[in-house]
Amino acid sequence: MPCPSDPRPVILTGDRPTGPLHLGHYAGSLKSRVALQDSHRQFLLLADTQALTDNADDPGKVRRNILEVALDYLAVGIDPGRTTICLQSGLPALADLTLLYLNFVTVARLERNPTIKDEIQARGFGRDIPAGFLCYPAAQAADITAFRATVVPVGDDQAPLIEQTNEIVRRVNRQAGREILPIATALIPEIGRLPGIDGKAKMSKSLGNAVPLSATPDEIAEAVRRMYTDPNHLRASDPGRVEGNVVFTYLDAFDDDREAVAELKARYRRGGLGDATVKSRLNDVLQALLAPIRERRAALAGDPERVLEVVRDGTRAARSVTQATLDEVRSALGLFVLDPVSGPT
Ligand code: TRP
Repeated sequence: MPCPSDPRPVILTGDRPTGPLHLGHYAGSLKSRVALQDSHRQFLLLADTQALTDNADDPGKVRRNILEVALDYLAVGIDPGRTTICLQSGLPALADLTLLYLNFVTVARLERNPTIKDEIQARGFGRDIPAGFLCYPAAQAADITAFRATVVPVGDDQAPLIEQTNEIVRRVNRQAGREILPIATALIPEIGRLPGIDGKAKMSKSLGNAVPLSATPDEIAEAVRRMYTDPNHLRASDPGRVEGNVVFTYLDAFDDDREAVAELKARYRRGGLGDATVKSRLNDVLQALLAPIRERRAALAGDPERVLEVVRDGTRAARSVTQATLDEVRSALGLFVLDPVSGPT
């Protein structure tokens, strides 16, 4: 961070506010964010502008979910005293940097980004790809570099976006003739991507296989009941498969008692352990994890104005950080800076 009074490495990460966050977000990134609040200078971005790149037909959804995602952040233990929560559309420097970076990436390269390719497929855009969507990797590079972030906690599906950010960074630095922007590293959890309760590769609200962080006790129990196990494990006495068995994948992700989980796996493989017993343990683990989150969320939801005030304060703080970076990048590239906020660089 160019902030001399705070030598900690900077984290920037964000979420598209298109629905409440779920267990996949928690395992993939939220847990690390809560853990890193002291060792890092952390910014969380409510990426409403990026959300619009595939939701321009439903801006109301994006608007409503800004509060929902902010509530999820606070409920899981993000502390606004230690982490700055900010709104992408409230940071005009990000849009300016995006326009600048679009000159440092080719359309062919954007089209080759594996995440973009998958998402285009999943959204069924066909040949009618919104330009904003194709170009959002340049906007994400703007998000990351505007804060001079070096650490980006994300799920593994985001790795190609961090790679593309770093390509843009190298090009800008080459043009500037100095390391004006830092290289970012994706912080991807070892556990990998959390599958949906149906065993599909990704947990996602639109696939109907997600467990939201705000799930009620009954919804949690129902999700565990429906959860995909080993389809060939018909009787408790049969030997069962642990690999690809969602119940065990979730125990690996959320049960802190590793020894007990290892023991359950061994018994399951050997035969003699029924799905109901393993599911009952997972239900206990998830109920214990989500109960305090749900309670905090409900309490905070009673005062939405206070939550929005947190977002307003954070966005104000982030505005000067991001504007300073924009000025520095423009000036390093030899562009005109009409009215520098941070003085001459
Ligand atoms: N693309 C991310 C997602 O879909 C959200 C995001 C926006 C983000 N800006 C970011 C993630 C910057 C990391 C860094 O979840």
